[in-house]
Amino acid sequence: MDQALYHPQHGFYSSRATRTGRAGDFLTPVALGNVLGQLLALQANQLFEGLGRPPAIQLVEQGADTGRLACDLLSSIHQNHPLLAASAQFHFLEPLAILREKQKHTLSSAGLLEKVQWHDSWKEMPQNDIPCFFYSCELIDSFPVRIFRYRDGAWREQWVGLGDAGFIWMEGEIDADTTAQIRLWSPPEVDGFTVEMRPGAIPWLQSWARRISQGLVLTLDYGCSATELFSPAKAGGTLVAMRDHQRSTHPLAEPGQQDLTTHVNFTELEESAAREGWKNYGLVNFTRGCTALAAPLLQEDKRPSDTWIRNFRHLTHPTFFGHTHKILVQGKGLPETFQPAMLRTI
Ligand SMILES: C[S@@+](CC[C@H](N)C(=O)[O-])C[C@H]1O[C@@H](n2cnc3c(N)ncnc32)[C@H](O)[C@@H]1O
Repeated sequence: MDQALYHPQHGFYSSRATRTGRAGDFLTPVALGNVLGQLLALQANQLFEGLGRPPAIQLVEQGADTGRLACDLLSSIHQNHPLLAASAQFHFLEPLAILREKQKHTLSSAGLLEKVQWHDSWKEMPQNDIPCFFYSCELIDSFPVRIFRYRDGAWREQWVGLGDAGFIWMEGEIDADTTAQIRLWSPPEVDGFTVEMRPGAIPWLQSWARRISQGLVLTLDYGCSATELFSPAKAGGTLVAMRDHQRSTHPLAEPGQQDLTTHVNFTELEESAAREGWKNYGLVNFTRGCTALAAPLLQEDKRPSDTWIRNFRHLTHPTFFGHTHKILVQGKGLPETFQPAMLRTI
């Protein structure tokens, strides 16, 4: 999965700059006009105000792909939140050269390159005590997974092997430690039950949790709690391959030409953050989180355009992003009274 997505020459993400959006292979919430950027700007501004308007605040996005969401967020901050705009420093965490170029192009077309920097990862970010607003959208689902299936009284790993006509699934034995890690989640031990484990999830969380001394972190993605993820409804696992806006029937076919993704285990991120001393404010679906943020924009005297309303409905619709996509809200060092706007009851 790592090679299929990120091989320097042939990887799905590293070989072409347009993979998401209408011109790419699948839609993400970022494709729905500037609505999401505007809503995240409201959340960033509430954090800025809640901290008493600090002289500097870092806004950080990882996995920005085209840079569209950052562009929408920064445009909205410049238009609607001038005090935040004066304090904000924006950072992209982007290891792929082809995507950095794309992001630079998106931001420079909107005249927004000022005060924007690029780094490969959190390791290269300057270490400081500046408050931080860190967000990602559909980043974790694209981290490689290991797949395990229960059969004849044991968990076994699904390996990728080479057959006569291309890659094939093969089954391999696993050690006792790996079995113990799977059992921590108590998945049903019935023949055929399939689970995915994401080795990069906890190291990713630690990469920011140990660097940010004060801030709010939003993880936007599809996935569910461990209880839902390891339930009979998901007995076949959640691996999906996408190409040209269609689900592919064979995840091992044409590596590098199709996206590979699995659901995020939000419980893993919550438990890991708590171990790092972070507060889990909550996990909301897009319907609730985006509607709570949009409340001030939906007042009658400020009624947004019809296009905005259409995109907002698409973003929050319970049969689309509204139900599948969630926002995990985590924070550290924030005032006792601070309650993230997207978690407010409306
Ligand atoms: C599914 S796309 C989502 C893109 C965009 N955020 C959106 O919602 O439209 C996943 C993105 O995460 C990026 N990605 C994966 N691992 C990453 C990492 N360790 N650091 C930065 N970006 C990463 C991929 O290159 C890809 O651009």
